[in-house]
Amino acid sequence: MFGFFKKKEYKKEITFDYSSIMVDMHSHVLPGIDDGAKDPQESIVLIKKMMALGIKKIIATPHIMADYYRNTSETINESLTILKEELHKQKIDIVIEAAAEHYFDETFEERIDRQELMTMGDNYVLFEFSFINQPPNTIAVVQKLKDLGYKPILAHPERYPYMDIDQFKSLHDWGVSLQLNTISLTGYYGKESKKMAEDLIDAQLIDFISSDMHHLRHAEALKNALRMPYLEKVLFDYPLKNILLK
Ligand SMILES: [Fe+2]
Repeated sequence: MFGFFKKKEYKKEITFDYSSIMVDMHSHVLPGIDDGAKDPQESIVLIKKMMALGIKKIIATPHIMADYYRNTSETINESLTILKEELHKQKIDIVIEAAAEHYFDETFEERIDRQELMTMGDNYVLFEFSFINQPPNTIAVVQKLKDLGYKPILAHPERYPYMDIDQFKSLHDWGVSLQLNTISLTGYYGKESKKMAEDLIDAQLIDFISSDMHHLRHAEALKNALRMPYLEKVLFDYPLKNILLK
């Protein structure tokens, strides 16, 4: 009866790492500004784990949301500076930049209008939906992003239980790139997310993969994801765009 709490045991050996994607573009490793790393020391523990798995560049994406994490480009860049100083002090050689994970709440459209989004690469904007329901004005807002020259990326599509594969297909056709959390393939977020992650890969709908790293349990799952056949498929036989962000 205690099997529920037992640590998963894996038989498959790890034979490759994330070096083929080079860039991890969704993580919460900036210290002290969201539900990720609390201080620079925690940031560095997580960053070292990512480096050990072959990541060469990290784009940190703190939450920006009206309710909980009212980050701005100032709070994010300030945290990035603190982290960079600590990395330099400890002689840790990693490229690190900052963007954001924008929450699609009632303030998202205003932020777009004011053009205060935190972008990565060639004007990519990472955003997430609520886990409860899809905003009714999704297409209008996506169109606005595109009209302003932004390239929208929806974070972890496999984690929205109210959406089906056809809805993702039409979003994708509408110009929204999709970013899979690789740890979903281990079942970290449950069976449904794992299944949707696999279906999205099969349907060739995934554009980016990343860690969404918040803490050490994610680091462990990121490593274990390397045992999953679906990850092998997506790393070596798939048109991923992570490399565009290097
Ligand atoms: Fe995230």
